Amino acid sequence: MSDKVLLITGASSGIGRATALKAAKNGYKLALLARRENKLKEVVNEVGADNAIALPTDVTKLEELGKAIHKTVEKFGKIDAVYANAGKGLEKAGTEHGDPREWDQLIDLNVKALLWTAKMTMQHLRQTKGHFLITSSVAGKIYLPGSVYGASKWFASGFGHNLAREMKEWGGRCTVICPGMVDTDFFDEPKPDKLKPDDIADAVVFALNAPHHSTVREIEVMPTN
Ligand SMILES: NC(=O)c1ccc[n+]([C@@H]2O[C@H](COP(=O)([O-])OP(=O)(O)OC[C@H]3O[C@@H](n4cnc5c(N)ncnc54)[C@H](OP(=O)(O)O)[C@@H]3O)[C@@H](O)[C@H]2O)c1
Repeated sequence: MSDKVLLITGASSGIGRATALKAAKNGYKLALLARRENKLKEVVNEVGADNAIALPTDVTKLEELGKAIHKTVEKFGKIDAVYANAGKGLEKAGTEHGDPREWDQLIDLNVKALLWTAKMTMQHLRQTKGHFLITSSVAGKIYLPGSVYGASKWFASGFGHNLAREMKEWGGRCTVICPGMVDTDFFDEPKPDKLKPDDIADAVVFALNAPHHSTVREIEVMPTN
C-alpha cells in the first residue's frame, strides 16, 4: 500500500469517480475536485474522511483551482500525482452547425483548465518527482468530420506528450489516457455494451503503480465491439 496523494479533477462522476474509488483501494489519499459537492462527499463517505477531501471547484476558474490545490497541500502535505480528467462534450456537433458559445465552454474546460491544472500543480509534483495523468480520448488520435471536441482531445494528447518530455528533465512522469466510448453521464443515453468507468480506472491505476523507472506514456482502451 502507498500513502501517496492523488488529486483528481472531475471526480464527481464517471471515470474520475471510479478512479478515485480504485486509487483509494490502492492506498492513495485523494483530493477530489468537481463542481457538485454532494457527489464528492459521497466518495469521501465511501473511502473515509482521513483518506479524502472534497474540494468543490469549478476548474475553469483559476482562483478556485488555486485554492483547491492549496487546501490539498494543507491537508496532506504534498501531491504525488494529478489526474486531469474533467472534460465535456458538445450538444451541437461539427463546425458548420456548431455553436461558438459552446466551443468557448469546451475550450475553457478541455484545454485551458487542463493547462492551468498542469501549471499550478507542477511545482508540487517536482518536489515528489510526481506523475501527471490526462484523460484525452481516442477522439484525439483519429480524424472525425468537423469535430471540435476531437480537436480539443488532440490538444490534450499533444500537450501530454510534450509535458512528459518536460517532466522527464527532473524525473517526473506523464501519462495520456485515451478511452474509446465509456458508459458515463458524458452521454444522454446509456451505453451498456461499451466500456465501464472501472475499465479506465484500471488503466489509470496501472500507470500510477508502475515502478518509478517505468513511465507509461499512453494507454488506449477500446470497447471490444
Ligand atoms: N465517456 C466517454 O466515452 C469518454 C471517452 C473518452 C474520453 N472521455 C473523457 O473522460 C473525461 C471524464 O468524462 P466522463 O465520461 O467520466 O463523463 P462525466 O461523468 O460527465 O464526468 C465529467 C466530470 O467532469 C466534471 N466537470 C465538468 N465541468 C467541470 C468544471 N467546470 N469544473 C470541475 N469539474 C468539471 C464533472 O463534475 P461536475 O459536473 O460535478 O463539475 C464530472 O465529474 C472527460 O475528459 C471526457 O472528455 C470520455
